[in-house]
Amino acid sequence: MSERLEDIAVAMVANGRGLLAADESTATIKKRFDSIALESTETSRRDYREMLLRSEEAMRNYISGVILYEETLFQNAADGTPLVEIIRQAGSIPGIKVDTGAKPLPYFAKETITEGLDGLAARLAKYHEAGARFAKWRGVIAVSDTLPTWGAVKANAHALARYAALCQEAKIVPIVEPEVLMDGAPGDHSIERSEEVTEWVLRTVFEELGDARVKLEGMILKPSMVIDGKKARKASVSEVAERTVKVLKRTVPSAVPGIAFLSGGQSTEEATAHLSAINTAHDLPWKLTFSYGRALQQEALTAWNGKAENVAAGQRAFTHRAKMCSLAAKGSWKKDLEKAA
Ligand code: 13P
Repeated sequence: MSERLEDIAVAMVANGRGLLAADESTATIKKRFDSIALESTETSRRDYREMLLRSEEAMRNYISGVILYEETLFQNAADGTPLVEIIRQAGSIPGIKVDTGAKPLPYFAKETITEGLDGLAARLAKYHEAGARFAKWRGVIAVSDTLPTWGAVKANAHALARYAALCQEAKIVPIVEPEVLMDGAPGDHSIERSEEVTEWVLRTVFEELGDARVKLEGMILKPSMVIDGKKARKASVSEVAERTVKVLKRTVPSAVPGIAFLSGGQSTEEATAHLSAINTAHDLPWKLTFSYGRALQQEALTAWNGKAENVAAGQRAFTHRAKMCSLAAKGSWKKDLEKAA
């Protein structure tokens, strides 16, 4: 595998493959495990993630890379094999979430700034040594009639650009993730508002990336789709796709090799349908694929239910969803393929 940033970025979005976001923080994975009444321990987190990563068919065919939480990057499977090695053996690329979370932004009520820049260069060197070849940093933008503020947009875009430059210097491909929330405060905004804010945010992010001299050929953008707030959901699949494509065309330079969407609380099937519609009949300069957390894992988590005897069922559910997302990344997912499964 080439170590060039451009080659790694291209491999991350290679035809019909996308990213598995399995980088839930310890607090977030606890919430996911609470939904199946499973205690979150180092071992249960390992068992769950090992189940996903040992889904050979899914990993080999549909998952180009896996975003890990720091704990997992250094964790071994039950038989002692490093989890990173299991990812590599399946022909997939290990990656790492490096931000330390969204914290309240002083003087900006209800808005956050993502932290983690201090000491990041040293951490990146350690992660590269452990096998990570790409990283993720998520900036969070809350939407309402009056949010976001320029102060919050600019601060988050600047942090994303500082992070991206540090990654590239460490020979790690940065995934630049500015998430415009669909269920933030209060989560009832229109799709027009989502479009306006997403365009503003992406334009600002690319200005900051330019100022920070980030090589666009060696990064991946991870945006949210243009979609109405969760409490106001009424936009059709085709409207989400059209508006998302319009905003990306206006803001994302064609030098960027790929765009891998987050699912952001969309249902599994919504996230699959939207991605497929985005990839249907659009002649676009970038590869458009998935970097889903919840939308890839939800069915697998439910089928596994924290029990060793359900590992095969969990893997089947994960493989099915990964396959559907892979079809969506090629624009060829259809609802009746869901039923056939
Ligand atoms: P979701 O797809 O669940 O939004 O997670 C993706 C992710 O990595 C968020 O940072």
